[in-house]
Amino acid sequence: MASPSQNGSDPPQPVRIAGTGSYVPDRIMTNRELEDLVETSDDWITSRTGIRERRIAAEGELTSHMAAAAARRALEQAGVKGDEVELIIVATITPDTITPATACYVQQELGALRAVAFDVSAACSGFLYALEIARHAIAAGAFRNAVIVGAEKLSAFVNWTDRNTCVLFGDGAGAAVLLPSEDHHGRILSSHLGTDGAQAELLNIPGGGAACPITPDNVEKRLATLAMQGREVFKHAVNAMRRASETAMEKAGLTTGEIALVIPHQANLRIIDAIAERLNLPAEKVFVNLDKYGNTSAAAVAIALDEANRSGRIRTGDRILLVAFGAGLTWASAVVEW
Ligand code: ACO
Repeated sequence: MASPSQNGSDPPQPVRIAGTGSYVPDRIMTNRELEDLVETSDDWITSRTGIRERRIAAEGELTSHMAAAAARRALEQAGVKGDEVELIIVATITPDTITPATACYVQQELGALRAVAFDVSAACSGFLYALEIARHAIAAGAFRNAVIVGAEKLSAFVNWTDRNTCVLFGDGAGAAVLLPSEDHHGRILSSHLGTDGAQAELLNIPGGGAACPITPDNVEKRLATLAMQGREVFKHAVNAMRRASETAMEKAGLTTGEIALVIPHQANLRIIDAIAERLNLPAEKVFVNLDKYGNTSAAAVAIALDEANRSGRIRTGDRILLVAFGAGLTWASAVVEW
């Protein structure tokens, strides 16, 4: 990989995750249903990816609606009211509109009229990019709280005739509320981001931007849908997430044995297994829910974090490692003490 950008230092003022929330649409699409759309099988999808079903948003159900639903749950858990929110960052590659940002619609839905709101686009790493930005913004004293959200309506950007991609993705949203930290609970101990734009072609939505505007011809060629060189992305994902995990643990002064739970990006069970093996992690220390939701890109780590939190899988004092990888290429990791 060409010398990618790497980020740096930990902020002086500790910041904690004070609440988490998530939302997934009601509609379940099973692997069997996909057999009617493309030349595939439940057996292929399950054995090659670990995905059994995914959620699909209703027609009028947008990324902002799912984001707001997840954010409300996180705010409730954190004990922060909508009108007290100061910063909203939505990580998404499937915004409601190119402009304004999806975060602006979420601000409106939350009644968070004092908040500054904007989106970040870092694909599957987006939620952890938002975490890093919000963490530094709070630590610097610029904001007293932040709601960060990973939300996607990928079903609107999937080529439903391409078996290489359409079986992989799903819709949903996850959120967290960040506050300055008075004690250890939920404290973010370290984080790390990386980007390698030299690999941008491996995974993208080529159409719909200024480079390839929406024209009848481009729509016909389905250029405004996700295109991926799966095998190449797979290799990069394993290497980048392993390295990002090691860096975040090193920055936190922890070893793998001191991590209670790893919450990785949920793209493919074989990727997760390969990382666990390289980090010498037993399966019970790795959180997996991709069987239910598929790859929800920026929402995946956020939904998994909320499920782990609310199901009691994370206990007070546990050190957890969050790690993600996605289009860009981008990668990100963080260690949190619960
Ligand atoms: N059903 C049946 N056969 C299929 C399907 C399908 N759904 N999809 C592909 N195949 C076929 C291929 O055509 C190929 O057939 P061939 O050998 O006759 O040419 C064969 O299966 C093997 O294809 P591969 O692409 O080599 O399959 P692989 O084992 O690599 O699995 C997958 C493909 C699941 C996409 C995998 O490469 C992967 O998970 N890649 C990483 C995805 C990822 O991590 N994305 C990250 C971020 S996503 C984001 O940022 C938005």
